[in-house]
Amino acid sequence: MTPKIVLVAAVAENGVIGRDNALPWHIRSDLQHFKRITIGRPVVMGRKTYDSIGKPLKDRTNIVITRDPDYEPDDVVIVNSIEKAMQMARDDAARRGVDEIAVIGGAGIFKETMALAARLEITLVHLSPQGDTYFPPIDPHIWQESRRMRQEAAPQDDADISFITYERAL
Ligand SMILES: NC(=O)c1ccc[n+]([C@@H]2O[C@H](COP(=O)([O-])OP(=O)(O)OC[C@H]3O[C@@H](n4cnc5c(N)ncnc54)[C@H](OP(=O)(O)O)[C@@H]3O)[C@@H](O)[C@H]2O)c1
Repeated sequence: MTPKIVLVAAVAENGVIGRDNALPWHIRSDLQHFKRITIGRPVVMGRKTYDSIGKPLKDRTNIVITRDPDYEPDDVVIVNSIEKAMQMARDDAARRGVDEIAVIGGAGIFKETMALAARLEITLVHLSPQGDTYFPPIDPHIWQESRRMRQEAAPQDDADISFITYERAL
């Protein structure tokens, strides 16, 4: 079985996903949600996103894309193209017996994998912060919203969030 590719992102109302190689907000509830939907799966990310996290995400196979042949952090799988990342992720999903691959950013990786994805798991962050990194536009002809749940900011959250699932319609 070919595993589904799922893009997982937290996106502000103005499309911002990052600033200065970090998240422009702190929302603990979304970090917990992110963990729930990615745990036990291969996670594919760009080198800058990996640097911003700073360590491998636990209980997931971390697949990091870079063109730098000298980039060799411990405990992650390094690849030099999207194609190789997907091949590694498919093999890992089969080994783990899971049917999904999570693509977790950043901007270029989301843009390059959106055409391959079956589903988008978007946390809409109800803020419009300054930023330098954006999620690609979600074309309503291609993506159909199948679920939306708004959640008020918990004490350790900077903002309300809405969990939105989009399924590929085309
Ligand atoms: N809100 C969210 O959900 C979310 C999720 C992820 C990231 N972010 C934020 O986004 C920012 C980081 O994202 P970013 O877009 O700047 O960077 P990124 O996509 O994480 O990483 C970019 C790097 O990935 C490598 N790369 C990209 N495409 C490649 C390809 N086709 N082949 C080989 N290597 C490739 C290159 O690494 P080398 O330069 O090493 O060659 C490139 O510089 C941070 O602010 C982070 O906090 C937010």
